[in-house]
Amino acid sequence: MSDDSGRAGHSLWGGRFSAKPADLMRRINASIDVDRRLAAEDLAGSRAHAAMLAAAGVIATADERAIQEGLTRIEEEIAAGVFPFREDLEDIHMNVEARLTELIGPPAGRLHTARSRNDQVAVDFRLWVREACARSAAQLRDLQRALLRRAEETADALMPGFTHLQPAQPVTFGHHLMAYVEMFSRDAGRFDDAGLRMNECPLGAAALAGTSFPIDREATARALGFARPTANSLDSVSARDFALEALAAAAICATHLSRLAEEIVVWMTPGFGFIALSDAFTTGSSIMPQKRNPDAAELIRAKAGRILGSLVNLTVVMKGLPLAYGKDMQEDKAPTFEAFDALELSLLAMTGMVDDLKPNLAAMATAAGAGYSTATDLADWLVRRLGLPFREAHHVTGQAVAKAEASGLDLAALPLETLKSLEPRITADVYEVLSPAASVASRVSYGGTAPSQVRAQIARWKESLS
Ligand code: ARG
Repeated sequence: MSDDSGRAGHSLWGGRFSAKPADLMRRINASIDVDRRLAAEDLAGSRAHAAMLAAAGVIATADERAIQEGLTRIEEEIAAGVFPFREDLEDIHMNVEARLTELIGPPAGRLHTARSRNDQVAVDFRLWVREACARSAAQLRDLQRALLRRAEETADALMPGFTHLQPAQPVTFGHHLMAYVEMFSRDAGRFDDAGLRMNECPLGAAALAGTSFPIDREATARALGFARPTANSLDSVSARDFALEALAAAAICATHLSRLAEEIVVWMTPGFGFIALSDAFTTGSSIMPQKRNPDAAELIRAKAGRILGSLVNLTVVMKGLPLAYGKDMQEDKAPTFEAFDALELSLLAMTGMVDDLKPNLAAMATAAGAGYSTATDLADWLVRRLGLPFREAHHVTGQAVAKAEASGLDLAALPLETLKSLEPRITADVYEVLSPAASVASRVSYGGTAPSQVRAQIARWKESLS
């Protein structure tokens, strides 16, 4: 039956056709190279559908048994790599059905009762995207755990905090890493939310209008792990916002990954020298023997382009499409698979790099004091101890920075007389706030960089990620 010989048209839909499609038509129409990745989901959907049809008395129990056995053989063939994927059978759905017919004969023809490829692909793809969201969320939590381990070791390791990539105020390396723990938690939450929202089963919407057969959509929804069936048959076969939402979550996550990747690149450059990566996560140069390049970080930084591109791709495919199904929607899978492949690799490689990186505590601590990074601490001291309005304290501190710069000194090395020349009431205990360690220790506001605060956040996250 999957053999077209003896028939002019396509074996599965060619009843009204008298000639074969042009080769180009077959090529542009075929999606099997891409959607063969939905084989497991397609088999699961068919199993649930066949079981429901038998339970509802729409097909005979013996036919259902034959169908289930045939699907098992197909599953084995796919696992063994011997399933004959055929481009002339267009897509995974028709490849499976045609093979089922070869294997079990006429009962195979009953499987497609009360079903269309439109609801079939909708349920297959939803199952795939739901799993991709769950996998991404789990990988994000692994990455968070890796960051937590490093943050715990470095909760009080001084480093410069930057704004505009200029030294701003000292922070700790652990605090900096914990910022990403927060970001990746929201990313995981977005995948969780998307997974819940898409967890409705479109199977049984048939082509677009529902079916006259007495099907049990609650049963198929339950069998496939969905919370409930979708409530509108048109929406069921035309909705792809579940994939868009997953891609949006992926794009935001990739954006966060690219920021950490960029920091790794910057931290590794000798001008910073804040971290080192081992041979495991760096590459050499074919011409410059001294080089050690952070290629994995650079590639993660770049994958954000591919992943955001996938979101833009599918958004444009869906924009302006009339209800219900349009073949345009066949183009939904390639960008989605591509994005999640890239995201998975990025998440795993980032987790590997976080485990691998070695912080250079001395270099970070030295840099933490550079660039007059405790100027705000001086201004705050003038406010707290002398009652100066903050704006005035800011001005006095600016003058102190100018003096320090002119004499090539750090703020903490300025003589007391110099400070007194700017504000006579300044006393020697001002020096207690001018060290990076004192600055960091004083930032005890909730969520601040004081090691006590950082440790409290680490403890909270360890609890919630265990
Ligand atoms: N390969 C198709 C897709 O991925 C399956 C649905 C085809 N439906 C149809 N009416 N031609 O969208």
